Amino acid sequence: MIVSESTRRPPAPKGRPLLGVLPEFRKNAPEFLLGVAHQFGDLAYLPLGRQRVYLVSHPDWIKDILITHQANFRKSRMLERARVLLGEGLLTSEGEFHKRQRRLAQPAFHRERLAGYGAAMIECASRCRDEWKPGATLDIAREMNRLTLAIVARTLFSADVTGEADEIRAALSDVLELFETVLMPFSEWLEKLPLPSVRRFERARDRLDQTIYGLIAERRKSGEDKGDLLSMLLLAQDEESSGGMTDKQVRDEALTLFLAGHETTANALTWTWYLLSQNIEAESAFHAELERVLAGRAPSFEDLPQLRYTEMVFAEAIRLYPPAWAIGRRAIQKYQIGEYTLPERSIVLMSPYVVHRDPRWFPQPEKFDPERWLPDRAVARPKFSYFPFGGGARVCIGERFAWMEGVLLLATLGQRWRLRLVPGHKVETKALITLRAKHGMRMTVEPARM
Ligand code: HEM
Repeated sequence: MIVSESTRRPPAPKGRPLLGVLPEFRKNAPEFLLGVAHQFGDLAYLPLGRQRVYLVSHPDWIKDILITHQANFRKSRMLERARVLLGEGLLTSEGEFHKRQRRLAQPAFHRERLAGYGAAMIECASRCRDEWKPGATLDIAREMNRLTLAIVARTLFSADVTGEADEIRAALSDVLELFETVLMPFSEWLEKLPLPSVRRFERARDRLDQTIYGLIAERRKSGEDKGDLLSMLLLAQDEESSGGMTDKQVRDEALTLFLAGHETTANALTWTWYLLSQNIEAESAFHAELERVLAGRAPSFEDLPQLRYTEMVFAEAIRLYPPAWAIGRRAIQKYQIGEYTLPERSIVLMSPYVVHRDPRWFPQPEKFDPERWLPDRAVARPKFSYFPFGGGARVCIGERFAWMEGVLLLATLGQRWRLRLVPGHKVETKALITLRAKHGMRMTVEPARM
């Protein structure tokens, strides 16, 4: 029998009637995808309800989708649906509009601006470091969230939100919870029903809007350049279309940066502290570097090039626990991968969590080994074997911000403290939009012995 090109599908796990593999996917998506890639290889079909979803796990094919053929792809459903919150911000917009917004926002991440953000990061981290007490048991996930939220509020709005932080966090948490239902079939309808979760979401969104529009109005009135991201967004003028952003656009970008800019790094840091606590040798090498480079003084932006081991620790942590654990795209036209043709509107999923655990690129993939990031070892791997920040035109705009924040926060806190996991604390992942620690991360604070 000759099988026509359009009906041939890559190998697939067996799903249940109607739902396909949705139940397994919802239970623990990253581990489920890892199992699928392990069993079926670099291209697998995922029967997920009525959607045509493909898991792509070869670095070269990922590069083709994110870079070479990026014009044939749009953001996938998950991010399309994020519009209810983020409007037409960088994460969610498409095409020419996205290009213009990206051009306008880019200067906010230039080197000279980053130095200023670095100073704010160190100041916030020092405050947190001074609050911790020896012997205290803390939920480090919560601590990292508070810290990165304070930093994004400072660098974005020059706002000291310690007072408002809890309210903002509650609003964001409601918003993220609603996203959990986004992957469910019929979620478009759910959103229109007067469900308590939908109402809570809308109230949370309105509260955030009120704060942000208030800040925008204040700043427009004063016309002051405070050196923060908000000033950059308000001052940005596009040479090509000669014009700036409307209040609504500034709001969408600010909220996008606010959301994208703190939950990701908070999770990355939480996993880093956990991994350090489980790998005493790496932890000692990390403290030894801090002692050698800083010799007791506070870190600064200028120290970054010297804090190489700390950077390798962070790189290795986001290899194992990439905060953006999956990146999705929808094909505009049919698309060829290897011997298979994916029909138009197919969704391709590329999972850093899966590819970062591929023994072809990372032998003994579950082992936490920062030395994988020594330059001669790192260059030997294919480019998209490691892509925690994505790639191509939609690569994370905050990548340099995130590396800097990771290293400076680890250095500032690690200079005084080391953290021990509370015995018996259950460590599990929870994959929402980002990869969280499901039960938080209960850890005890101990003085760092140097
Ligand atoms: C460890 C921390 C972070 C990780 C792992 C991360 C990861 C990512 C990834 C994978 C994407 C691409 C998504 C896709 O292609 O579908 C992305 C986009 C984005 N990220 Fe990050 N991010 C981090 C931190 C940040 C920070 C600190 C900011 C802002 C201050 C930020 C702002 C953004 C924005 C605005 C986009 C959309 C860019 C565009 O489409 O033009 N991220 N991020």
